Amino acid sequence: MSTRCRLFIDSRLSNLNVSVCSLLQVSECYIISFEFLIIPLFSAVWIMLPAYLPNPVAALLGGGTPVDLGRNYTDGRRIFGDGKTFRGLVAGILAGIGIGLVQIWAWSAYNLVFLPGQTLLSVVLLAVGALLGDLVKSFFKRRFKKERGSKWPVADQYDLVAGAFVLLLIADPGWLFSRVTVPAFIFILILTPILHRAVNIIGYRVNVKEVPW
Ligand code: CTP
Ligand code: MG
Repeated sequence: MSTRCRLFIDSRLSNLNVSVCSLLQVSECYIISFEFLIIPLFSAVWIMLPAYLPNPVAALLGGGTPVDLGRNYTDGRRIFGDGKTFRGLVAGILAGIGIGLVQIWAWSAYNLVFLPGQTLLSVVLLAVGALLGDLVKSFFKRRFKKERGSKWPVADQYDLVAGAFVLLLIADPGWLFSRVTVPAFIFILILTPILHRAVNIIGYRVNVKEVPW
């Protein structure tokens, strides 16, 4: 119990004071949780939406010519593999930018000032970075002799975060440091593998993905 409350109760030990104190504490807790949990949680999702969407859209609409055109690297293995296609890349990036544009519009239309505002540059970097991260991950996956679609824990889940944040760091660090607070970043790290798994299980169930990871 806070000192403020204890003093209040000590001075007048009435039931009314106790109830007022409890009420104060509940509201304090509410304000604290709102500021430190709820806003960072929503901010994390809001920041990452243009980076989260490209992967499932690539899985849904991808296919056709692979980005490496079927060519091998010096180790005799595919550069990226058949899981990385031009169609998936373009469709995924456009979807990420699309959702970002909707966010930019909704932010001013509904005065969502408690959420970090996106910009055209931030949504482009988030969407492109997410799939570039995925591509770079696949490059190293092939170098480690892992087949297309095989599991690579941690890298499979965080490739999009790494790609998006590296691009932001290079091309728009001002936006990155002003919009992504430490609590929001912690939520991004917690939420990403959970959402990644959930979306992949759904993708597998509806036959969009060949494996549930
Ligand atoms: N996809 C695509 N183009 C991309 C990314 C994904 O066409 N740039 C599609 C592919 O059909 C791919 C599916 O989305 O199989 C799932 O993506 P992902 O899990 O990233 O690819 P994997 O097949 O698991 O390949 P890798 O082992 O290289 O990650
Ligand atoms: Mg995969």
